[in-house]
Amino acid sequence: MPTHTPRGTQDTSRATSPGTGDKVLDATDLLQRDHRQVESWLHTCESLSDQQQKAELIQKICMALKVHTQIEEEIFYPRARAGTGEEGLVQDAINEHAEVKQLINEIEQRQAQGQDCAEQLEVLRQSLAHHIQEEENEMFPKVRNSDIDLFALGSELATRRSELMQQMSAQKSQTNPGGGL
Ligand SMILES: [Fe+2]
Ligand SMILES: [Fe+2]
Repeated sequence: MPTHTPRGTQDTSRATSPGTGDKVLDATDLLQRDHRQVESWLHTCESLSDQQQKAELIQKICMALKVHTQIEEEIFYPRARAGTGEEGLVQDAINEHAEVKQLINEIEQRQAQGQDCAEQLEVLRQSLAHHIQEEENEMFPKVRNSDIDLFALGSELATRRSELMQQMSAQKSQTNPGGGL
């Protein structure tokens, strides 16, 4: 009998970022963590009855999705296209992002006007489920099988993600200094 091998429990982090102590993640792992986070927030959103809490969570979801789609389009997809030659998969993903962004705009506009956006959130949930499934089951395995340095790419994505988060939070507090809706 072979000795115990901890399959499926391997540590996917390789090192820590100098100065910050943050773990450097494999790029596909970092993106998958974003997916799980947004899925979990969308799930929580369904059961929230407090309208203020719900509005704040929806804002958080929209911002996370804007940042996530931007880092994928700016950094991850070009690298995936070059490293795997999967032009079709990348183009499909970009087209799906356009739909997601359209839904985010609609949700933000409705929120600003105090309108209910349950229907748009449901469409967003379905659209994301399809998109995430394609990324995780088709694109990411191809990227993992390529020569791309996934940890270097993960570090680039993490840096850009924090920059964008800071920018967007600053914009939000400029346009909305009270922090409310
Ligand atoms: Fe993604
Ligand atoms: Fe995506």
